[in-house]
Amino acid sequence: MNMTVNSIGLEVEITKELANDLNILLSNFQVYYQNLRGIHWNIKGKRFFDLHTKFEELYTDANIKVDEIAERILTLGETPLHTFDDYIKKVKVPIGKNIKQDEKAVHLIVDSLSELLKIERMILEKSDEANDEGTNSMMSDFITEQEKTVWMMKAWLDESI
Ligand SMILES: [Fe+2]
Repeated sequence: MNMTVNSIGLEVEITKELANDLNILLSNFQVYYQNLRGIHWNIKGKRFFDLHTKFEELYTDANIKVDEIAERILTLGETPLHTFDDYIKKVKVPIGKNIKQDEKAVHLIVDSLSELLKIERMILEKSDEANDEGTNSMMSDFITEQEKTVWMMKAWLDESI
């Protein structure tokens, strides 16, 4: 195994792999972001005002995370994906289209977050192995927050975790 390290002290090969995995996460986050925009716009019914505002809060947070992921990829010396055709090739989160019913909208959030969590745990394991604390702590922060959001969404749905 090639043990050359880069200027931030991380092994070159595994860093490339991690940046590639972060691009998978970035792509899926962008689809999640668009899912949130879609339900923010199209939501209907008696809980409109609550949910319209909640979905905006979530997409604003997702937008910040998208930027953090992209800049981590650059910090690791690679290039973040930024085109929709690249994103769509890597998509694992469900694509929600024209969802206006409130429970369906909240299920879309839960299902999207479940997929993001899988990708983040895969990266977490690898960043731990690579001693990449920057990526590792980013993943653990994302995971903790998203698990809490899943709990809240499940509570709203009156479903168990
Ligand atoms: Fe808006």
